[in-house]
Amino acid sequence: MRIDVVSIFPAYLQALDLSLVGKARRTGLLDLRVHDLRDWTDDRHRTVDDTPFGGGAGMVMRPDVWGAALDEVMRPAPGEPVDAHLLVPTPSGRTFTQRMAEELAGDGHLVLACGRYEGIDARVAEHVGARHRVSEVSIGDYVLNGGEAAALVVVEAVVRLLPGVVGNPASLVEESHGAAGLLEYPVYTKPPTWEGLEVPEVLLSGHHGRVERWRRDRALERTAERRPDLVAALDPATLDRADLAVLARLGWSVVDGRVSRGPDAVA
Ligand code: ADE
Repeated sequence: MRIDVVSIFPAYLQALDLSLVGKARRTGLLDLRVHDLRDWTDDRHRTVDDTPFGGGAGMVMRPDVWGAALDEVMRPAPGEPVDAHLLVPTPSGRTFTQRMAEELAGDGHLVLACGRYEGIDARVAEHVGARHRVSEVSIGDYVLNGGEAAALVVVEAVVRLLPGVVGNPASLVEESHGAAGLLEYPVYTKPPTWEGLEVPEVLLSGHHGRVERWRRDRALERTAERRPDLVAALDPATLDRADLAVLARLGWSVVDGRVSRGPDAVA
C-alpha cells in the first residue's frame, strides 16, 4: 500500500518511523511518504492561508496551494494503482471506525491532507472529488489543532490490518470478534499476587471453557457499563443463554428482536 501525508508540520509525522508502521515501511510492505505543504507555495513567505470570505475568526488554507500539492501527489505513477483515495481529517467528518479502517486497508493508495487553522477551502475537496474518492473523517467529538494527530491515528489503524504487519494475526482475529460488538475483557499477567491484588482465580484454573465464559461475562458487563449503545446494537442471534442471563442481571433483554434496556427488560 502507498500512503502520502501532506502537512505544514512534517516533523509531526516522525512517529510513523517507529514501531509497527516504521517496520512495515522498512520491510517494503508500506510505501509511506510525508510531504511539506509549503513545497507547493510560490511566494517568498511560503504562505498557505488567507482570511475567510464572509468574515469570521481565523484563517483558511488556500485552495491553489492544496490543489497543486494534491494534483501532484494523487497522480498515479506508471505501474501504480490509480485509485488514490483522499482522506481529510476534520472534526466535521464522518466518525472514523474500525469498519472504516478495514475498508481503507483494501485501498491501494491513501492520501491524507492535514489541515490547520479553520480548515481547507471547500473547493479543494470538490476539485479532487471530480477524479478521486474523497472522505472527510473525524476521530472523535473533540477539536484538535490540526489534522496531524488524526492522520497518525488513521494510518496506524489501517496499516496494522495490512497482511504481514502484525506479527501474530490471531490477535487481529480475536479483536475482530471484539470489534463485532463488545469491548475487550480485562487482562492479567504474572505475578499472580501484586500489591495485595489477586488475579481472578478462574484464569489460573487451566479450564478453557470456564476462562472463555468468564471473559465473555466481563466483556458484557464492561460494555453495558461503558458503552450501552454497543449493547443495544448487538444481534440477539449472537447471544447464548449465559449472555442473556448476564444482560438480564444488568437490566437488558431481547424485545421485538432487539436488545433493549428498561422496564420490559426482565428475562
Ligand atoms: N482536526 C481537528 N480535530 C479533529 C478531529 N476530532 N478529528 C479529525 N481531524 C481533526
